[in-house]
Amino acid sequence: MAIDKFVSRHIGPREDDIKEMLKVIGVQSLDELIDQTVPANIRLEKPLNLSNGLTEREYFRKILKIAQKNKVFNTYIGMGWYDTITPSVILRNILENPVWYTSYTPYQAEISQGRLEALLNFQTMVCEMTAMPLANSSLLDEGTAAAEAMHMMYSLRSRAQEKAGANVCFVDELIWPQTLDVLITRAEPLGIELKIGNFKDAVAAENWFGAILQYPNSNGEIEDYAGFTKAVQEKGCKVAVATDLLALALLTPPGEWGADIVFGSSQRFGVSMGYGGPIAAFFATRDEYKRDLPGRIIGVSKDVNGKHALRLALQTREQHIKRDKATSNICTAQALLATMAGMYAIYHGPEGIKAIAERVHNIARLLAREITKLGYTQVNKKHFDTIRIDLPRHVKREDIEWLSVDLEMNFRYFENGQVGLSVDETTNIEDINWILEVFAKAANKPVPVIDSIADDRSVDADIKRQSKFLKQEVFSKYRSETEMARYIKRLEKKDISLVHSMISLGSCTMKLNAATEMLPLSWIEFNGIHPYVPKNQAMGYHELMEELRRDLAEITGFEDVSLQPNSGAAGEYAGLMVIREYHKSRGDGHRNVALIPSSAHGTNPASAAMAGMKVVVVPCDERGNIDVEALKVKAEEYKNDLACFMVTYPSTHGVFESSITEMCDIIHQNGGQVYMDGANMNAQVGLTNPSRIGADVCHLNLHKTFAIPHGGGGPGVGPICVAKHLVEFLPAHSVMNNGHVGIHAVASAPWGSASVLTITYGYIKMLGADGLTEATKIAILNANYIAARLKDNYGILYTGENGRVGHEMILECRHLKSAANISETDISKRLMDYGFHAPTLSFPVHGTLMVEPTESESKEELDRFVDTMNAIFDEIKEVETGVADAVDNVLMNAPHTAEMLTSNEWTHAYSREKAAYPLEWLRENKFWVPVGRVDNAWGDRNLFCTCEPLESYK
Ligand SMILES: Cc1ncc(COP(=O)(O)O)c(C=O)c1O
Repeated sequence: MAIDKFVSRHIGPREDDIKEMLKVIGVQSLDELIDQTVPANIRLEKPLNLSNGLTEREYFRKILKIAQKNKVFNTYIGMGWYDTITPSVILRNILENPVWYTSYTPYQAEISQGRLEALLNFQTMVCEMTAMPLANSSLLDEGTAAAEAMHMMYSLRSRAQEKAGANVCFVDELIWPQTLDVLITRAEPLGIELKIGNFKDAVAAENWFGAILQYPNSNGEIEDYAGFTKAVQEKGCKVAVATDLLALALLTPPGEWGADIVFGSSQRFGVSMGYGGPIAAFFATRDEYKRDLPGRIIGVSKDVNGKHALRLALQTREQHIKRDKATSNICTAQALLATMAGMYAIYHGPEGIKAIAERVHNIARLLAREITKLGYTQVNKKHFDTIRIDLPRHVKREDIEWLSVDLEMNFRYFENGQVGLSVDETTNIEDINWILEVFAKAANKPVPVIDSIADDRSVDADIKRQSKFLKQEVFSKYRSETEMARYIKRLEKKDISLVHSMISLGSCTMKLNAATEMLPLSWIEFNGIHPYVPKNQAMGYHELMEELRRDLAEITGFEDVSLQPNSGAAGEYAGLMVIREYHKSRGDGHRNVALIPSSAHGTNPASAAMAGMKVVVVPCDERGNIDVEALKVKAEEYKNDLACFMVTYPSTHGVFESSITEMCDIIHQNGGQVYMDGANMNAQVGLTNPSRIGADVCHLNLHKTFAIPHGGGGPGVGPICVAKHLVEFLPAHSVMNNGHVGIHAVASAPWGSASVLTITYGYIKMLGADGLTEATKIAILNANYIAARLKDNYGILYTGENGRVGHEMILECRHLKSAANISETDISKRLMDYGFHAPTLSFPVHGTLMVEPTESESKEELDRFVDTMNAIFDEIKEVETGVADAVDNVLMNAPHTAEMLTSNEWTHAYSREKAAYPLEWLRENKFWVPVGRVDNAWGDRNLFCTCEPLESYK
């Protein structure tokens, strides 16, 4: 391995290590291992047709050149994206900090208290701004949040409404066009009818179940919705309101005028536009609807010692458990961006947020006044940050357009010829003068000169917020940069991330997120661009996205790619909608049965249900493989209605099933399409591909296989790749031409979370064809090495025909439960004492642990993990043989906090040393778990999901 090659930095094991590992596995060469693992009938015949890998330095130059092709103008388009200032202390200590961006979704609460607190702050911020009692910890974007709101209101229909078939959701015509676009996509398969109109003329009918409004609306107008809301609710319907968090610092919040659901984007709280994303959507509702709330909720609970501890609440609502009965398919959300938005609120506090909002409002007022003086008419009666300008007859819109572009500014242009301006916290005196110059010149008037924004009037009294917000202590404590940085550091210290140790979560692919891949994210040329700017200002983005689409098509063997979906589950939904549209186009619109193996991830059935499909489960055999005979029977049984088969490959059991091509043939013979869940693509790249195995469409998890970090639960990117016959159905966008003409949008932004595509782009360019293939082989090597070293103690649940695992494996733990009453949860918690994050717990098989090491882990780290697992096995044996107490043992009491270990009282049947330093290397490098085992049930019984002083929930 040449040292200047990126592949040697991305991949963990060195050449000598590889030789040793192969010996332990019992093969002569890496190729022999791959031959034994990946069935010959699906192997690629040719290497990937991708460019050679660049060195980090070469890539840096390349991406810099691409960045320079993007032009950063001052953009006043609004429509859901606004320029914002990310406080540098947040940029450096969170966005650019691998502890925050490489950590996983906080399922293991005890080692995630930092990010759990950050997300609890976000929820609290949302509740405070919207005046709603309960919020989740983020959704994918505003459009999908609207779709979730619609779905939630639909699920909350009364019995009578259900019986009467109430299926109409009223949508005010003045919501963002992209939100409406996403609603249209989501409504149709569920049988929901959207009634689009002006709320002033609308009267709730018997067949309504809900209404969606936007506040301020898409013109920038602030309407009084209280009367409408009351009238609609009196008819038994719910009201959901899209809103702007910054505006709510000045306006009476929807929670105070009766909304049932309040949602929107938190982007302008310090998260860059990024050509559309990623951004965190928020979603708040009434307490009584908590069980229907989509997405993750952070809740307060306590640990075994009675200490305040946080964890994910009400998890039984999620698709992991509820599958096709779940109210939403959401899994990965936007944790990192929610963390940033919450921190922005903490750094500015209530007075800072209010001052920013007032300044923005005053700039909008000032512009309205000055532009009116130039002979224009400002048509919004009440506005926050957006004015809408009617041009006098002698002024041409084209003149405004070229004059503004000449001064490097973008305005919004309405279809009726009016011009919109949305200002933001970055707008300053100089910008104001430039804007006025455009309007003055276009009207042939002298250019006014403004030298201050001295107007400090707030909004009109009738719409003005009277209530206080952000009242909790956390929003007033950290005003100086020193204090803020230390707060962030304090939280960070409570969490295990990839910079602490290997995170062996099966199915999650926690590989290296290389610094060189991440750096361009902080560049204004990528993050300072609004998604609706003219394409010629985003040429860098388009070059990058075109190449990326081509590369992903090559890697998957497919024809084209949509980059729009914002997560794996969003990709599943998009892919299934594409399949649905394909069937419709052939007069087969009745095809609605999705065959899904019992081993599938919960998002699969949940996505199928969202796409209007009926889920039929296909069993697996005793080896964990899909029962091909049963598949055949079901496919034939449903042959007239078969829409698709959803299959994860290699399987969620970590095995390359050699019958995959046969399974795909069966589906095709019965008129169905094959959807491949790409969560396990890390085992395929360069060796086989979804097209080769016979699939028609797949999603990729760029936040797994292609190096985008997990961010503590998002962002994600779930592009879908499709065969030729499906290209015409890929999701379009109602505002921007994104190159596709198929179904309506599945996300707010035309190209989804565009800014993080730079990470995947860097990954592919630096590894190149050979490096990508090498990475796949080493991922398989690392997994088989662990399997070889752990099989005797734990047992590997499933292997392929030659006894090999793919890139991950399921460790059997059920025999330990029956022998010593030690569960897979106990093992997970004990791993924390050794400084490790647990593998995937009880998925896809209850009572097991699924381990995926990835190619990025070195042999040394794999050995440390294996030694730890074997040491834990010995501890279990001590319990089994009675050497250790059956209950008071290191496993059941794990994790051990420093407080527990240093307490004056120590009554346990084992020593402090055994608890804290079971292996020698821990004396050098110990992660101190901040809380003891968290009581999940107590937290759910006493649900509390915002920050409050401890006294209030004790
Ligand atoms: C097999 C599988 N499918 C789908 C998903 C959903 O992906 P996302 O979390 O990005 O929505 C996951 C996520 O863990 C998964 O493991």
